[in-house]
Parts: sequence; structure tokens; C-alpha cells
Amino acid sequence: MSAIGEPILELKNISASYDAISVLHDVNITVRRGEVMALLGPNGAGKSTVLKIASALMRPTQGSVHIAGHDLTGAAASELARLGVCTIPEGRGIFPNLTVRENLEMAARKGLAVSVIQERAFARFPILAERRTQLAGTLSGGQQQMLSLARGLATDPVLLMLDEMSMGLAPIVVADLYEQVQAIAAEGVSVLVIEQFARTVLGIADTAVVMSHGHVRFSGNASDVDEATLSSAYLGTK
Ligand SMILES: Nc1ncnc2c1ncn2[C@@H]1O[C@H](COP(=O)(O)OP(=O)(O)O)[C@@H](O)[C@H]1O
Ligand SMILES: [Mg+2]
Repeated sequence: MSAIGEPILELKNISASYDAISVLHDVNITVRRGEVMALLGPNGAGKSTVLKIASALMRPTQGSVHIAGHDLTGAAASELARLGVCTIPEGRGIFPNLTVRENLEMAARKGLAVSVIQERAFARFPILAERRTQLAGTLSGGQQQMLSLARGLATDPVLLMLDEMSMGLAPIVVADLYEQVQAIAAEGVSVLVIEQFARTVLGIADTAVVMSHGHVRFSGNASDVDEATLSSAYLGTK
């Protein structure tokens, strides 16, 4: 288990809306260095909106966003990216018509050499080395998710946020990916894992937040998320 450190992402009293419809209500979330946090809740709970706020793709109507102790409310998404905030959106964000190698080349940032990025990606995910000349769109779902993780890691993130990584994947593939997520966190990266269905991710998470209807219903140790908490969030009991 890695040592959990200082706050990397702090969302304080965040409210947010799409046009006039408010979808987040006074949300407080803190992710610490080297921590894996599971952000859980049913469809429509506001999980992806939290991710948009945390990466500055959307502005809160109230509250503040802090990265590594600095107030970045209102900053540009590019500034957060420069500080090491990396988002892997739902649907993986890879280029299906480019090869594995080209996808990694496109991810080169911060002057990291393409060769270094590839070396790291292939060391972590040996199957990607075998498939380096294959079009990304023809990889299996799990391999595509590995590629999107490898692309994210090419930016040397401080905070990695994964939106519904397990979508459409077999449980055994998901378990493999989560093992990688745990290894990434052990290297000091903070990881926010958004999932709709809870079980598997709780096994690798240090902490968890459960949301429904734009409210945080539970925040604490992942091991303390119980059936009652989940069923009231998922079945819509308030
Ligand atoms: N682009 C959008 N325009 C309007 N409403 C949206 C938009 N995106 C999400 N919503 C609404 O905001 C609420 C929260 O959505 P979202 O954050 O995507 O939830 P989750 O990721 O937990 O499924 C839902 O009611 C959803 O319908
Ligand atoms: Mg979502």
C-alpha cells in the first residue's frame, strides 16, 4: 500500500448547472496524492460533471477547485493539464484509425521523447508492443483501454481521472485494468475512478464517494461502503 499524501484535488462546495438546470449541489471531494478514489453512483448522478469541473472543461456556479493546494477556479483546462491533471473520458479518447504507435506518438507532451513514452507503455502493457502497427479501432475493448491509459500516462500525470473505464468489458479484463490502476497509484499518481457499478472498483480503491441526484451521499473509506449506502443511492431512496 502506498503512503497517501497531501491533497491533490479539492472540490469545495461545488454547484454546477447546464443552462438553468442545476445538477451538482454543494459537492465536496478531496483526492490525496497516491490515492485511488472510487466515484460511484447511478446514471445521471453527476459523476461525469464532477470530472468536467475537476478538469476545467466546465465552470462551477459555486465553489472552488484546488489543485495541489492552489486555487484554480476559473483557470483554463490547458493550465490544469499543464499541472498534471489528465482525464480519460468515457469512450476512451483514442484515435481508431491510427495505429497503436501513432496513438502513443500523438500523446507526446512535456518534451517526453516518443521513444520513452513507447518504452513505458510497452513495459506496462506488453500486448501493445505486439500490436504496435495495428489500427487502434481493431483492438479488443480491454486493449483499447490499455492504450488510453498508456496515452494518459504519457503526460506524466499527477491526477488521472478515468470515466467508466469498465464499460462493456468482461469482468476479468476489468480486474486486470484495475490492477494496473493500483500499480499506477503506487507510483504516486492520484487516481479518480468513476464507475456506475461499484463492486469491483471498491476492491482497489482507498476511498470512495457515492453520489446520487447531484449530491454526495457517502464519503469515506472504500471498505466502509456498505449495501445500505449503495442501494439507497442506486434505488433512488433519498
Ligand atoms: N451536456 C449536458 N446538457 C444538459 N444536461 C446534461 C448534460 N450532461 C449531463 N447532463 C445532465 O446532468 C445530470 C448529471 O449528468 P452526468 O454528470 O453525466 O451524470 P453521470 O456521469 O453520473 O451519469 C444528468 O441529469 C444529465 O442528464
Ligand atoms: Mg457519466
